[in-house]
Amino acid sequence: MKILVTGGAGYIGSHTVLTLLEQGHEVEVVDNFDNSSPESIRRVEQLTGRSVVLHEMDLREEERLTALFAEGGYDAVIHFAGLKAVGESVEKPTLYYGTNLESTLSLLRAMTASATRTIVFSSSATVYGDQAPVPNVETYEPLVATNPYGQTKVMIERILTDLAASDDAWRVGLLRYYNPVGAHPSGQIGEDPQGIPNNLTPFISQVAVGLREHLTVYGDDYDTPDGTGHRDYIHVMDLAEGHVAALDHLAATPGIGARAWNLGTGTSSSVLEVVAAFERASGVEIKRVVGPRRGGDLTYSYSDPSRAESELGWRATRTLDEMMADLWRWQSQNPRGYRG
Ligand code: NAD
Ligand code: WQD
Repeated sequence: MKILVTGGAGYIGSHTVLTLLEQGHEVEVVDNFDNSSPESIRRVEQLTGRSVVLHEMDLREEERLTALFAEGGYDAVIHFAGLKAVGESVEKPTLYYGTNLESTLSLLRAMTASATRTIVFSSSATVYGDQAPVPNVETYEPLVATNPYGQTKVMIERILTDLAASDDAWRVGLLRYYNPVGAHPSGQIGEDPQGIPNNLTPFISQVAVGLREHLTVYGDDYDTPDGTGHRDYIHVMDLAEGHVAALDHLAATPGIGARAWNLGTGTSSSVLEVVAAFERASGVEIKRVVGPRRGGDLTYSYSDPSRAESELGWRATRTLDEMMADLWRWQSQNPRGYRG
């Protein structure tokens, strides 16, 4: 298939582009490099020996995007592009609603003007909000996220579902990711956060290379065995393979409409378990202090991944130790990320 990947230079996008190329697909990328660098795609090309056509473009440049679709002949789109920092979205809600919704609407109008009707969307476990029981199941409603970023995911899922209901030519996959971590086992591509990382594992690996002084553990008084929060960490390569499985399923299932799948492992690990796994993988002791809880954090978040297994034939297979070993290979070989 010929696939257009939006946000393909980013963390999850670059690993997915690599997996698509390795499985024989043709890939083009649209990215404005707001949170990434073309270097990730250059490295994907080196690793795979295949080339990727890179369009530097903001998805909101609708005329250019429409022209791209008119010429492109894409069989499907994977839509990663968007802003993703939860805390920033609370401070700048209009930036988040504006960017994520306008980009997606521009993309969907450009697709509508072309013949492309298959799209896989990067949704998030954040759509389950703070009331859903764990493990999360896809049938849970109502979807109400606790921050503007998460609400953009809820809204875009709704837009895509309505679009699929309007015309049965549309095939829509809504992939609800849990906590993507790790890197390609080569250590050549990985997560490259700008500024202070918001997420746990890039913070840990930056402490390990001396870019940060210590990790602050956000609360050790949760109702869990060691008192720290539990999450469903998933290796980014398992996640990348989940996208290919979803695309294959959509291609084989005319009339599917819109369908959601959780992409997680079905198990959870605590903050301290993640730190311990990283220390085992790297041999570096992570200096840490316990701080107060972070507002909005859940005690437990983890998936029921059984729908993805039965319908997509996909299951996460990589362990937490592999996630941390691959993260360490990336961080130790690229202490300052793609900026070198
Ligand atoms: P990322 O920031 O590394 O990648 C997003 C990419 O989109 C970047 O390359 C960025 O430059 C590009 N982009 C942003 N706005 C754009 C625009 N208007 N036009 C063109 N390009 C634009 O993020 P990621 O971690 O790879 O996440 C990818 C997707 O997965 C996002 O939609 C995110 O919300 C979702 N997601 C991420 C996580 C996570 O923890 N990383 C979890 C659940 C869902
Ligand atoms: C994981 C655990 C923290 C940093 C976020 C988004 C979610 C999704 C994935 C996109 C929690 C603890 C963290 C630190 C810590 N993204 N922690 N010290 O919050 O589960 O999910 O990213 O859709 O929507 O909310 O991930 O990596 O920030 O935190 O103790 O410096 O690590 O409290 O228990 P989270 P995270």
